[in-house]
Amino acid sequence: MSNALERDLARLVREREEAVTAAPASFRQHMHLMPPVGWLNDPNGLFQADDGVFHAYFQYAPFDVHGGVKMWGHATSTDLLTWSHDRCVLFPDAPFDVHGVYSGSAFAHDGRVTMFYTGNVKEIDTGSGLDYVNAGRESNTVAVDTVDGSTFGPKRLLMTNADYPSDLTCHVRDPKVWRADAPAGRCLMVQGARRRVDEAPRPSSSAAQHGVGAGTDEGEVVVFASDDLARWRVVNRVRTSERFGFMWECPDYFELTAEGEAPVKVLSVCPQGLEGGDWERRNIYQAGYFPLAGDISGACELGAFHLWDAGFDYYAPQSFEARDGRRILVGWLGMPDAPYGNDQTVAEGWQHCLALPRELTAVSDGTVRQAPVRELAGLRGTLISARGELAVAGDDAAAFDLEVGACAGGFSMTVGGVLTVALLPAEEGLPQRLEMRFTDEGRSGAGCGRAVRWEALEEIRNLRAVGDRSSLEVFVNDGELCMSTRVYAPSPSLAIEAPDVRISYWPLSAHR
Ligand code: FRU
Repeated sequence: MSNALERDLARLVREREEAVTAAPASFRQHMHLMPPVGWLNDPNGLFQADDGVFHAYFQYAPFDVHGGVKMWGHATSTDLLTWSHDRCVLFPDAPFDVHGVYSGSAFAHDGRVTMFYTGNVKEIDTGSGLDYVNAGRESNTVAVDTVDGSTFGPKRLLMTNADYPSDLTCHVRDPKVWRADAPAGRCLMVQGARRRVDEAPRPSSSAAQHGVGAGTDEGEVVVFASDDLARWRVVNRVRTSERFGFMWECPDYFELTAEGEAPVKVLSVCPQGLEGGDWERRNIYQAGYFPLAGDISGACELGAFHLWDAGFDYYAPQSFEARDGRRILVGWLGMPDAPYGNDQTVAEGWQHCLALPRELTAVSDGTVRQAPVRELAGLRGTLISARGELAVAGDDAAAFDLEVGACAGGFSMTVGGVLTVALLPAEEGLPQRLEMRFTDEGRSGAGCGRAVRWEALEEIRNLRAVGDRSSLEVFVNDGELCMSTRVYAPSPSLAIEAPDVRISYWPLSAHR
């Protein structure tokens, strides 16, 4: 099934991808999914097929390294680390998705996979002053089927803005679908939304922490239910008791079962517009989760918000269940509208990549721990073992996996001479903390404008760090705290200081 626009777009994308020649000294990643050319953002439609192959789709703008109209690129992998590009599979070729095949998810059933996504339409402003928040934008819910993950049937328009609650703005998107436990056959869907709130902000004692001040609109999750995957109705709306940003993007819901414990229910969202207090020193937008008590399709309550990642680059994560039962979270190793950039890869004609897929496990207090997928151990080369300190340079430092144990005497590591991750003692007005700091300044340096991020940390019981050519992902205390960033060091090197502590270091083998 294809129309003329799809045929032409497919040909133009292919020609553009085929014209790429990678420079020898490149910041291209070895084990992170990156776009063949141009721009990538959110992961979409993740699933593992019956033959064991993992399928990942991504928001893709191949014609412009700075973004533009979004399509779905497609890649496959058998280890979640080594990706083969298939091709661009969903194009903005229908009246209901002409300004972007936006983010969405996969639902496997009856020998096929149905992708649910948002068809984005921006109306042309003919002088009436469209604000694209309350007028001028369509957020359509669309379904499309695939059997092989690579070829798709006809698109079906399921819902338009008229089907969403009338107090929502035009911003409703990013459907994630799963099968509910009961009643049998019922499926649920969450979408992120921006609710119009015209009255003055509610005063509250913790106003600063909850982002009051950035307009009055409020982020929430809308829950839909369906018995046939075609007709959906709103069954719930989930939000915090106090305003928590103006928009929640990319929602996800799943349950994790800690051995012998009741399931931990997790609502993941990306709130935009958090201001005041600690939010002032963090990223412009956040990706995190609320433990959820109760029934997401009925009476429920959200617990405290936890960041998935406190570094510079992590957004729009989406989870899926692997065939062996693991819940795997894949994020975008990027940040929309950030004041920092990726000028070094822009110069190479591409921008952004996905984060390392992470295995999630629940803790009975409702928090979630994250670890790089176990497949990473399969890329480890010969172990380099040291005590107290270690320095590595050249090829062995281009991609690595390292572990340290409890660091009572402090910890510090420097990547490429330009990025330091260190446990710093408490000082005037600041707690003991893990800090990620670029020592260069400005957008032309290795941080491309990134400067500093930190989170309070009482101790390092263990720490794992995974480096690729232009990224660093740090997992502390069994993944209770994660910090990720892109980094453009002129040449790979690594220096670690952890007094009296055993350091285990593995170069990772490159695949490209
Ligand atoms: C998040 C997001 C989604 C949207 C997509 C468009 O990064 O804004 O809400 O569907 O990106 O590319």
